[in-house]
Amino acid sequence: MTTAETTTETPREASALEKVTVRYTINGEQREVEIAPNRTLLEVVRDELRLTGAKEGCGTGDCGACSMIVDGKLITSCLMLAPQADGSEITTIEGVAQDGKLHPLQQQFIDHGAVQCGFCIPGMILAGKALLDSNPAPSELEIREAIAGNLCRCTGYTKIVEAIAAAAD
Ligand code: FES
Ligand code: FES
Repeated sequence: MTTAETTTETPREASALEKVTVRYTINGEQREVEIAPNRTLLEVVRDELRLTGAKEGCGTGDCGACSMIVDGKLITSCLMLAPQADGSEITTIEGVAQDGKLHPLQQQFIDHGAVQCGFCIPGMILAGKALLDSNPAPSELEIREAIAGNLCRCTGYTKIVEAIAAAAD
């Protein structure tokens, strides 16, 4: 490569050339993918692994639509660089139902009519799951705190809180 070619290369093009390999256990499956290191976990999971349940709402960590559980913790995957999760266990909404059977949270969301447009629901279910995995009998306040980072523009939250409480029962 000539000096002239090097100087015309933008930083974005340079990083696109320097791919890294990341490995995840995602929804119980081992996956490996080569990516540019500046891609977010959300982009890689949606675009490379083709798991599109997590949504991009804000892209700035404010809405929770992109929530995933990484090594037991609820995270906003639009703010995590994909290489930061290398070697991690990741759960997305696609991994919540087991053996064709809905998770109790999913069933209770249906039974309580807690879903309207659905855009926030993958994140809400994962926020509820992260809560119930660590606190199987949460108070209403604890449920509201657990979903405080997940915005819903449709439901008014009451039915979502009731559905999570019912799933705990
Ligand atoms: S898209 Fe990640 S928090 Fe909104
Ligand atoms: S159901 Fe529409 S944003 Fe929550």
